[in-house]
Parts: sequence; C-alpha cells; structure tokens
Amino acid sequence: MGLLAKIFGICKTDLPKDEGCWKYLNGEVKIDLKKAAELSKPGGAIRMEGKGLPERLLVVHGMDKKFYSFRNKCTHMARRLDPVSGKMTIRCCSIFSSTFDYTGRVISGAAKKPLKTFKVKTDDNKLIIPLI
Ligand code: FES
Repeated sequence: MGLLAKIFGICKTDLPKDEGCWKYLNGEVKIDLKKAAELSKPGGAIRMEGKGLPERLLVVHGMDKKFYSFRNKCTHMARRLDPVSGKMTIRCCSIFSSTFDYTGRVISGAAKKPLKTFKVKTDDNKLIIPLI
C-alpha cells in the first residue's frame, strides 16, 4: 500500500460488488455467499457499511477457511482494517499499521485496546452475524 493511502487511511478492502449480497435485519447481518464473490476464497474480505448497520463491519474468509467478523474501526483512531495477505491477521490502513489477530488481540502498532469481534454462524450458503 502506498504511503499516501496510509497517510489518508484508505483501505484496500472494498464494499461488495453486489451490494445485494447482504442485509441487516433484527440485529443480524445475513450474507449470501453465492452473491459475495469476494468471500469465495481464503484471504478474501468485504466491508459493510450503511443500510442501517449500527457500525462498520469487516468480514474475512480466514486462511484457516473459517469466517471472521470485526468492527471495522481500529481502536487507535478508528481507521478501517484489511486482512493481511497469507496471514491470520488484520491490519489498520493508517500509517501506524496496528495489527490484530482474529480474536481481536493487538499484535503490534499504536492500538492499545483489542478489536471488537462478532461471532459468525454458517448456515448452508449463508453467513449470519448477530450484532447484539
Ligand atoms: S488508526 Fe489504526 S493504527 Fe492508528
């Protein structure tokens, strides 16, 4: 990632190409994996924002082939996060590059507090993420 992107805190992870792949209803996010092509392979990720979602989310298809969800706000200064290629970690897009493991624990960087994580349930071709 370029220095300017880090200075401005521009993350690499996009919103899903098919915004219809997810919805938020009754405190739960539901993602249709058949429509979320970005999550088809380990290392893939999407960020979700808007649609009444109470907070920004990052969903990652982990290198262990499981799915993980995080509040997409670094605990240092609230910048967005990206999965680290080939590793079981996520990293802040800012210049301070705080890095967290999949449990939300801080591994390195300026952040002092752990990252909020959310349980991800799989049901057929869907991911269900209760936020409350
Ligand atoms: S906002 Fe993430 S390290 Fe500063």
